[in-house]
Amino acid sequence: MASATALSAAITPSQLCSGKNGLTPASNVSLARCVKSKRMKVSCMATSIPSDRVPDMGKRELMNLLLLGAISLPSAGMLLPYTYFFVPPGGGGSGGGTVAKDALGNDVIADEWLKTHGPGDRTLTQGLKGDPTYLVVENDKTLATYGINAVCTHLGCVVPWNKAENKFLCPCHGSQYNNQGKVVRGPAPLSLALAHADVDDGKVVFVPWVETDFRTGEDPWWA
Ligand code: FES
Repeated sequence: MASATALSAAITPSQLCSGKNGLTPASNVSLARCVKSKRMKVSCMATSIPSDRVPDMGKRELMNLLLLGAISLPSAGMLLPYTYFFVPPGGGGSGGGTVAKDALGNDVIADEWLKTHGPGDRTLTQGLKGDPTYLVVENDKTLATYGINAVCTHLGCVVPWNKAENKFLCPCHGSQYNNQGKVVRGPAPLSLALAHADVDDGKVVFVPWVETDFRTGEDPWWA
């Protein structure tokens, strides 16, 4: 017992291997693991990897870095969409607003718009969250400070503006809204949603409407 313990302490595993002929130097074994057997012999569980083929520390670190990169990149790719979900919506406007887009996807420039859209005009633009939203030109040739969401409150059809009737008429089930989007005939249960239409740096910017609905005097159902 004592001799075996002393032997284990004095001789490193890579130095000796046991065999039929007893302990022998492991000069040709570069990596060895020696354990004590029940008979207190030292047996050798050596591999036959030459010392010149064992990766050095630099290569190991390089492999670790490559492995870390291979894991990190897909993880970051999965996390980004989740992070983006919690970022407040905004389309380049100030205060979390969204710049209105015309039918071609260009920013709506207020002055340019008023040159081509006369009093009483209601033309669809792309508004908050991409919703179709009417930009309104007042009778004094100014832009109204509100936009009208064109999504019908019944089942979601886009409601066209009917200039002759001076109303929004839903083609799906016949709901009607006045020229400010207030519901005047069902089955739509609610008026069309509103958004603020501000002008920022010359561009029309839609901002969520969270104040009282001026058409009904009630809290906005969409906020
Ligand atoms: S979707 Fe507009 S009336 Fe039904």
